[in-house]
Amino acid sequence: MINLNTIIFNGMDITKIDVQIQLSSGFAKPEFNIIGLADRAVKESAERIRNALAALNLSLPSKRLTVNLSPADIEKTGSHFDLPILCGILCAMDILPENEISKYVIIGEIGLDGAIVKTDGVLPASVWANKNNLGIICPGLQGGEARWAGHTNILAPNHVLDLINHFRGTQILPLPQMVNVVQADKKIGDLSEVHGQAAAKRALEIAAAGGHAMLMVGPPGSGKTMLASRLPTIMPEMTPNEILETSIIYSIAGKMDGKSLISERPFRAIHHTASAVALAGGGSDAKPGEISLSHNGVLFLDELPEFNRTTLEILRQPMESGKIVISRAKRNATYPAHFQLIAAMNPCPCGHLGNAALSCSRAPRCAEAYQNKISGPLLDRIDLHVDVDAVNPWEMNTKSETPSETSAQIRERVVRARNRQITRQGYVNALLDGGDMDKYVVLNEELTTFLNTAAEKMGMSARGYNRIKRIARTIADLNDRDEIIMSDLAEALSYRPINRGKYGVHR
Ligand SMILES: Nc1ncnc2c1ncn2[C@@H]1O[C@H](COP(=O)(O)OP(=O)(O)OP(=O)(O)O)[C@@H](O)[C@H]1O
Ligand SMILES: [Mg+2]
Repeated sequence: MINLNTIIFNGMDITKIDVQIQLSSGFAKPEFNIIGLADRAVKESAERIRNALAALNLSLPSKRLTVNLSPADIEKTGSHFDLPILCGILCAMDILPENEISKYVIIGEIGLDGAIVKTDGVLPASVWANKNNLGIICPGLQGGEARWAGHTNILAPNHVLDLINHFRGTQILPLPQMVNVVQADKKIGDLSEVHGQAAAKRALEIAAAGGHAMLMVGPPGSGKTMLASRLPTIMPEMTPNEILETSIIYSIAGKMDGKSLISERPFRAIHHTASAVALAGGGSDAKPGEISLSHNGVLFLDELPEFNRTTLEILRQPMESGKIVISRAKRNATYPAHFQLIAAMNPCPCGHLGNAALSCSRAPRCAEAYQNKISGPLLDRIDLHVDVDAVNPWEMNTKSETPSETSAQIRERVVRARNRQITRQGYVNALLDGGDMDKYVVLNEELTTFLNTAAEKMGMSARGYNRIKRIARTIADLNDRDEIIMSDLAEALSYRPINRGKYGVHR
């Protein structure tokens, strides 16, 4: 019996699967069965493999060929089983050496002509193989991806023949190159391109520094989308660990471009028609969703009230735990989902509430209905609420405007403030709660009285109260101060929840 190695993913978890091949003689015509809880895509392997063998001018021996994917109690999904099964058959036919091939983890899909086609998850598979002292055989186009795992025992053939020739010694496969193309064409704007909007930029800086979720409210064309898309440019650069983590998620999702790791913080702008599965992840193969693709980056929900309420409820759990659990028939899959949420909305359907010249006749009633579409518990989890007013076009053109700070300059302050938080409590201020909140957000007597009075006047919930304390902590950190002072608290209080802000209907 031949026994080769492949793997299967469940979320980010990897389980080793043994591909066992048994040839039993005494049969008049070839038979080919795949057993071991294989799904349809895996069962279809048989057909692809038959064709690939025919393309190599080989035919299945007149024997019964049984492929067992073990352990049998784990459901096998995906098409990456083609290559390990084909390798096993070639071993059984003495075309490939089993003692060599069994030292590798094998993944890859096979085309009808024997070409080895791209498959998902090469990066985490390579990390796993490296850790378990095994080599990896993967599709030729993804050799670079396998190299990023730090692995050096990689075979990346483009065609099954390349693999056969390699082991015959007629043409040795080279170690794949670690390509790292910096995408020069990738245009990420700079915050200095946004004119005016000093208050919104300040809020963006606080959001980046403390990892706070943020909601911007304002009329159309005021620059909300423009501001949000530039948030990654002021967040700290990704650490090597974050780069690997995020890239692994993209690899499993089949979204690696093969040119480089994901080394820029992701910015995922979600359309309001997105489904729950698109957001959370799932489907038959439990692929990661948008909230995991924005892990270590930014999740942007534009036109927040247009989103389906139940879809948005999904965000509540990951916003607190930093991960998402997708329930599946047999086992749950877990993906990391530590993202910074930023949302934008118009104050009302036409967008011009509060503007006497432009607002419609249904104001403010339509605004109330519109703003009420967002779930309270979600709003409660958004620390920073900011009004973004329209800028005058003529203001945008005046040369007299003092030059705006660049993203790089703001990033420096953000990094300093973040480092303070990590040194103090090990995580960002946005996650402060419970005992840690009492320990690290200390208000003196004067500040406590001030906040209590404000809370009473504003009818603040306990959540709202803590929100203010967290933001005050971040503002003090941006000022490089351990102590929280009155101006920090007063500024924190100015980020009033949307329904009480300038565009709110409950002012
Ligand atoms: N403050 C600004 N500085 C420079 N350009 C701006 C500014 N505000 C708006 N613009 C210009 O207007 C365009 C529209 O801005 P943006 O899409 O960010 O507005 P928005 O607030 O998201 O509008 P909507 O509510 O319709 O989504 C931008 O692409 C930009 O060219
Ligand atoms: Mg917009």
